[in-house]
Amino acid sequence: MDADAMIAVFMREQERGVELADAATNLEELEAARTAVLGRKAPFAEAQKQLGSLGEDERRRVGQVANEARRALQATFDDRRAAFEAQAEDALLASDGVDLSLPGRRPRPGSLHPLTLVEHEVVDTFVRLGFRVVEGPEIEDDWHNFQALNIPPDHPARTMKDSLYVAIPGHPELLLRTETSAAQIRTMQAQQPPIYIVSPGRVYRRETSDATHLAVFHQVECLVVDDGITFADLKGTLEVMARSLFGANRRVRLGPAYFPFVEPGAEVGVSCFRCDGVGCRVCGNGWIELLGAGMVHPQVLENCGYDSERYTGFAFGMGIERVAMLKYGIPDMRMLLEGDVRFLRQFQGVA
Ligand code: FA5
Repeated sequence: MDADAMIAVFMREQERGVELADAATNLEELEAARTAVLGRKAPFAEAQKQLGSLGEDERRRVGQVANEARRALQATFDDRRAAFEAQAEDALLASDGVDLSLPGRRPRPGSLHPLTLVEHEVVDTFVRLGFRVVEGPEIEDDWHNFQALNIPPDHPARTMKDSLYVAIPGHPELLLRTETSAAQIRTMQAQQPPIYIVSPGRVYRRETSDATHLAVFHQVECLVVDDGITFADLKGTLEVMARSLFGANRRVRLGPAYFPFVEPGAEVGVSCFRCDGVGCRVCGNGWIELLGAGMVHPQVLENCGYDSERYTGFAFGMGIERVAMLKYGIPDMRMLLEGDVRFLRQFQGVA
């Protein structure tokens, strides 16, 4: 093939390529056309292979024509491909029915869980009184959960009936803490008085759930140890807290109670939100037991290295679920665990 014949092939193929690209009606046809014109076995490539047989000047001249024709063809196919792709995208948008001019979906704001709301409120009340917040571990050892709290080995609270032990090889005496009181011990071990702390957290007991009991629930522990702390300080603090949480309408009552780590001990109840102290399905006798309290037992102070002749203190531990029931009129504690959004949505905007 001489130079003019080669140029004729390149020009003809360029023309044919444009015609084929125009005639293609979709991407597959376009790709087939491109291979027919620009593929390795197409007339264009065959002619190009023969460039080597030409003299140097002619080769340069014809080679230039070939390159320009190939570039032009490539551009033609690229443009056509872009047009098909844009068309496909438009078709997809149309078939999806996406109307980009519509306003976006408004995200529905969530809310804090009622237990979190109550915990924050209790803790805030104490922080305002100058208390510090501390947290203890949920897996405790026997000493912190029992012995240091003056609970001897034969005390009923230690039997498997009440406590859930954790099976970790080599650590036979680990259990899920049964009350937040263990945080008292850890705090006293770490520092000397004055101590003014609150410690919120989860606790575990082997219990059957009912309207006012759960096996996993939350408490807030309060501990004060200082010079000259009396039962009157305990009572005053409880009243401030009850007023702050429940308002003036609820009545608070203190009765004697036994907790090994306090002396004297008290059980504190609030009049039932449902029957106002008359007695109903929720409370039984008109009162909802809210917390246990008392003056820290001298033995507990000594266990932590404090001088029990000099220091006195009070402590109480309160159930957060019980407070939530009272505050929001929740008839069954188990509702707090169900995750029913119709229930939870009612707390939107509460805090
Ligand atoms: C205690 O746990 C003591 N540690 C409280 C205490 C602290 C006394 C400091 C003295 C000094 P009690 O077992 O009564 O006590 O539990 C305290 C509160 O936790 C109860 O008043 C109640 O509000 C809540 N509570 C107890 N058991 C459950 C349960 N199964 N489900 C939900 N709340 C509970």
